[in-house]
Amino acid sequence: MTQEHFDRTIDRDQRIEPRDWMPDAYRTTMVRQIAQHAHSEIIGMQPEGEWITRAPSLRRKAILLAKVQDEAGHGLYLYSAAETLGADRTGLTEKLISGRQKYSSIFNYPTLSFADVGVIGWLVDGAAICNQVPLCRSSYGPYARAMIRICKEESFHQRQGYELLMALMRGTDAQREMVQDSVNRWWWPSLMMFGPPDADSTHTAQSMAWKIKRHTNDELRQRFVDMTVPQAEALGVTLPDPDLRWNADRGHHDFGEIDWSELKRVISGDGPCNAERIDVRRTAHEDGAWVREAAAAHAAKQTAAPSSKQIAERAERRP
Ligand SMILES: [Fe+2]
Ligand SMILES: [Fe+2]
Repeated sequence: MTQEHFDRTIDRDQRIEPRDWMPDAYRTTMVRQIAQHAHSEIIGMQPEGEWITRAPSLRRKAILLAKVQDEAGHGLYLYSAAETLGADRTGLTEKLISGRQKYSSIFNYPTLSFADVGVIGWLVDGAAICNQVPLCRSSYGPYARAMIRICKEESFHQRQGYELLMALMRGTDAQREMVQDSVNRWWWPSLMMFGPPDADSTHTAQSMAWKIKRHTNDELRQRFVDMTVPQAEALGVTLPDPDLRWNADRGHHDFGEIDWSELKRVISGDGPCNAERIDVRRTAHEDGAWVREAAAAHAAKQTAAPSSKQIAERAERRP
């Protein structure tokens, strides 16, 4: 019940479960994929979280608070999924704050205006949905099941972003300019969220064979562009790419060359906010040490065998 069982399960499109035998490389790859995803959810709370205290109305504040809280929840489901593979949560956090594990490079860009909250919902959560819907069919069971709920919430995030942008576009010239400026800044980084081009993507073939990746980076990127162009038109914003046009022969939109050197630079730590994001996370982790200690002490107390004094006290209370 080892390699053969594993291969057959993958072939039949069934799920690998935590207690099943799996190749070491599959386990390592899944831990890396899930951890990177979990870290992205948690770090992704920061760019928008910065606007909670500055939201322009109580309604917008409530919506944004709910959205950022959802991302925390996504992080928690995913850390739990990683734990089913034997990865320990403390270890994962250590790897994040020491820079040994990555998170999505999109969160290393700053949020300069409240329009960024809308554009992140529309484009960043939109790109995340394109990436994540196929992961609901990931061959690793706990991850696939977590993704189903996450995707439902991501689609709410995308709509709330779009609705915010529609409100701004109905507003003043200054508000419309704010939206366009935000779209100009986030469009290209959003396209980079799908990763390097297929030709340079080292893990794709193995990940597709294991069914932990269902489409290539370029396929998903194309799907996102095709989905987003009509939404931009409906909104009345221009996507900042002079080469973007419909190609009737391909049945898809053509788009301009992505600046891959920028992606490499941001991934390797030199984006506008890399140091700040990790700093905030590290500080939050250190500030939370007492909560973890108190929770651990409480749990130990609950499971510890009662002392003879406690047994005597309980006996006295009995009628
Ligand atoms: Fe999320
Ligand atoms: Fe989201």
